[in-house]
Amino acid sequence: MLKVWIVGSEGQIGEAINEVLNPLEIEALNTDKNELDITETDEVLRFGEINRPDVIINCAALTDVELCEKEPEHAFRVNALGARNLSIVARKTGAKMVQLSTDDVFDGLGKKPYTEFDDTNPITVYGKSKLAGEKYVKEFTHKHFIIRSNWVYGTGNNFVNRVLASADEGQALSVAEDQYGSPTSARDLARIILYLIRTNEYGTYHATCMGVCSRYEFAKEVLRLSGKKEQLNPVPTPQSDLSSARPAYAVLDNFILRIIDVYDMPDWKESLAEFMKERMEG
Ligand SMILES: NC(=O)c1ccc[n+]([C@@H]2O[C@H](COP(=O)([O-])OP(=O)(O)OC[C@H]3O[C@@H](n4cnc5c(N)ncnc54)[C@H](OP(=O)(O)O)[C@@H]3O)[C@@H](O)[C@H]2O)c1
Repeated sequence: MLKVWIVGSEGQIGEAINEVLNPLEIEALNTDKNELDITETDEVLRFGEINRPDVIINCAALTDVELCEKEPEHAFRVNALGARNLSIVARKTGAKMVQLSTDDVFDGLGKKPYTEFDDTNPITVYGKSKLAGEKYVKEFTHKHFIIRSNWVYGTGNNFVNRVLASADEGQALSVAEDQYGSPTSARDLARIILYLIRTNEYGTYHATCMGVCSRYEFAKEVLRLSGKKEQLNPVPTPQSDLSSARPAYAVLDNFILRIIDVYDMPDWKESLAEFMKERMEG
């Protein structure tokens, strides 16, 4: 049995990990903000030393990009110092550490997909604080997996659910046609995380579903799969209803996964279809 501490277990990725893990192989220790605030250094160390997990998966973060802009100290406390605290536990106990991260560590001004070897240059407070978290993880632990993803959807507040909620209200939607990314289901991300923690292939990974689209194309596919006929307008980001100014070109190349050649991420349209089918049935 592998003892895995899932930090931020009530967020969409934490929940997805719990949904896909095999309870016969993994004992999950779940905590979220109410049980254990990752910014409370001594409490985090105490919890880690008492429970001694084999793996720590840090899914906890301040992910509201606008809130991060308004409260940068809060953002750095959670996204940087929180990751540092968990890394200290990982180092002390010998646990493997998984740090979730984001395409926002890049400026999004590029024209081709970013590999793990491209230089970072975050422009948002969210991106800067997440990069600081990555640096702490690298500084304090050796046995780490830093996993960057983007446009993740699962349960809770995400782009897919916002598109569907607007459509349910019969609202016409204006969606950015100038932002590009790779929609990635939280479950697919959970599966690659659970695969990697069994290996010793440490380092930084880009892990998104395969294929690229604009926000507009993403919303169009969500509406098509849901059978809803609400009007959808392609617009530039400043006029869009559902997405704030983020790195415009948020496309990550899963370069390392490709060259180690052991794991293929699925196509974004297939994953979205699976998600929508389950959502409509359930
Ligand atoms: N969603 C995406 O598109 C995406 C893309 C790339 C990377 N990521 C990364 O993946 C990770 C998980 O994302 P997600 O979408 O699952 O986020 P999420 O749904 O916002 O979940 C984050 C969880 O962390 C909790 N949390 C916040 N502050 C905390 C604290 N001080 N101590 C303990 N827990 C705290 C949150 O609780 P409250 O809700 O109560 O605050 C929430 O349950 C993050 O590192 C994020 O940067 C996400």
